[in-house]
Amino acid sequence: MEIQTDYLVIGSGIAGLIFALEAARTGEVIIVTKKEKAETSTNYAQGGIASVFDLEDSFEYHIQDTLESGDGLCHEDVVRMVVEEGPARIRELISYGVHFSHREDGGDDLDLGKEGGHSRRRIVHTKDRTGHEVERALLDRIEANPNITLLEDHMAIDLLTKTTLVKRGIVASETSETCWGAYVLDVLKGRVVTFLSRVTVLATGGAGKVYLYTSNPDIASGDGVAMGFRAGVKAANMEFVQFHPTCLFHPQAKNFLISEAVRGEGGVLLDSKGRRFMEEYHPLKDLAFRDIVARSIDLELKKSGDECVYLDISHKPADFIKKRFPHIHATCLKFGIDITREPIPVVPAAHYMCGGLLTDKNAMTGINNLYAVGEVACTGLHGANRLASNSLLEALVFSRRAAERAIRDMEANSKGPLPRAPLWDPGTATDSEEMVVVTQNWDEIRRFMWNYVGIVRTSKRLARARHRVLNIQQEIKEYYWNFLVTRDLLELRNLAMIAELIITCASQRKESRGLHYNLDYPERDDDHWKRDTVVAK
Ligand code: FAD
Ligand code: SIN
Repeated sequence: MEIQTDYLVIGSGIAGLIFALEAARTGEVIIVTKKEKAETSTNYAQGGIASVFDLEDSFEYHIQDTLESGDGLCHEDVVRMVVEEGPARIRELISYGVHFSHREDGGDDLDLGKEGGHSRRRIVHTKDRTGHEVERALLDRIEANPNITLLEDHMAIDLLTKTTLVKRGIVASETSETCWGAYVLDVLKGRVVTFLSRVTVLATGGAGKVYLYTSNPDIASGDGVAMGFRAGVKAANMEFVQFHPTCLFHPQAKNFLISEAVRGEGGVLLDSKGRRFMEEYHPLKDLAFRDIVARSIDLELKKSGDECVYLDISHKPADFIKKRFPHIHATCLKFGIDITREPIPVVPAAHYMCGGLLTDKNAMTGINNLYAVGEVACTGLHGANRLASNSLLEALVFSRRAAERAIRDMEANSKGPLPRAPLWDPGTATDSEEMVVVTQNWDEIRRFMWNYVGIVRTSKRLARARHRVLNIQQEIKEYYWNFLVTRDLLELRNLAMIAELIITCASQRKESRGLHYNLDYPERDDDHWKRDTVVAK
């Protein structure tokens, strides 16, 4: 089966939805998303969106905080662009119907939160469920737009590029590399559909699932980076995996984050004896940059042998806690923890991928007609460690810029017909009765990534991880061609590629900086490593 459209958007988080709404002004948009439409990291974002609204704040302060957090690797021109465009994008979100929290003392002023590494209050939020409100409002707009079709349970497998078509003799080899859409698995019908498009957008989010413990939802398996990389897009800075310091530690809680905003409002980290330890690690104490807090907790846990540390905000009035953090309060209560009266057990977990597909200031990937927006991209904003709440901001700014640029591309390309594309060929593949191979390899990757390529690395551990991942990839390759594709198999294949990219980048960087900490090279080395790690196929 083949479907044609002007714009194919892969992913229904903030990045994909903003792009779709803009692009739909000029053409027909199809959004494919691999599960339910709201099942995105966006939907779980708690803290909010960093942007300059306070009279005591300035673009310069926000820029400086971002650069400092990025530990020498942010691209200053990109940082400036994103920070300066931020307030207009937030106002646009408000015009789309997003309700942000306002100050209690009345007036129209937004209530601004504080998080680690921010020198001023600048986090625009909707209590502690900002992402849920953004996703709701954007999906409402999408559903009301006659130019947009959103298809759930449609998982992109691979991009359809010139190279694919040249191999089949459909286009001439001298044309420059171009993307014409993607092969997509209709998960419920179990068939592969060819989507042909003039513009294709990867908005597939992050890859937290490559680690055993993560704050991310299950969709975060790095599909976009893997698809883009296989098609020939460069990947960069994959070693900079951000671990959020405070995820709820409870046997029944899967992936529940305790927002950094809790520390922003006075919450403190304690060890099992009730001792505040962050003062020993950084002058900003509990509000130090995220890489430093996560590493300090890791060290404390290794020293004490404890399973978790504690985050305590119970010294604040109960009414304030319930009003400011209603979702965290209610969720913890379900697990028997009353955060107004007792500390919350927490541990670090994989949270955000600072690296990704290398893009320019308009989210272009280097392949014609192919864009990458949101967490899937490496834009130069985050450097070696993302500043809290700069991710939703980045997605907002870049998806708007990508849409403006893509509209121009579309107008230029809309004259001729789309190329004929070969239908998906399953070859002699059959249904697999060996799903255990997939689950075994999933578990193995996530465990060795956590143990060998986690918060603290060594060269030996990285070498071990590389050895493991190469073996697993070989096994997946054989399996992939012999059995019909399923969502689990596709995710496994992508996860293995993400693991390999992280290990490759981490092994190349012979220093410690930001989120990459290698005990064999514990110092930052600006003479040799003040640059992005770029890998090509
Ligand atoms: P996502 O929102 O993750 O959307 C990705 C979409 O792509 C999903 O629809 C998914 O199903 C789809 N997809 C993936 N692969 C495929 C495929 N192969 N085929 C089809 N569809 C596919 N950042 C902040 O700035 N502030 C915060 O307060 C904040 N809090 C966070 C809290 C949590 C718990 C988490 C997990 C992250 C948080 N972040 C926060 C980070 C931020 O939420 C994400 O970086 C951001 O939402 C990413 O948006 P996105 O649109 O790029 O991807
Ligand atoms: C949080 O609320 O702590 C998450 C913020 C972020 O990841 O930017």
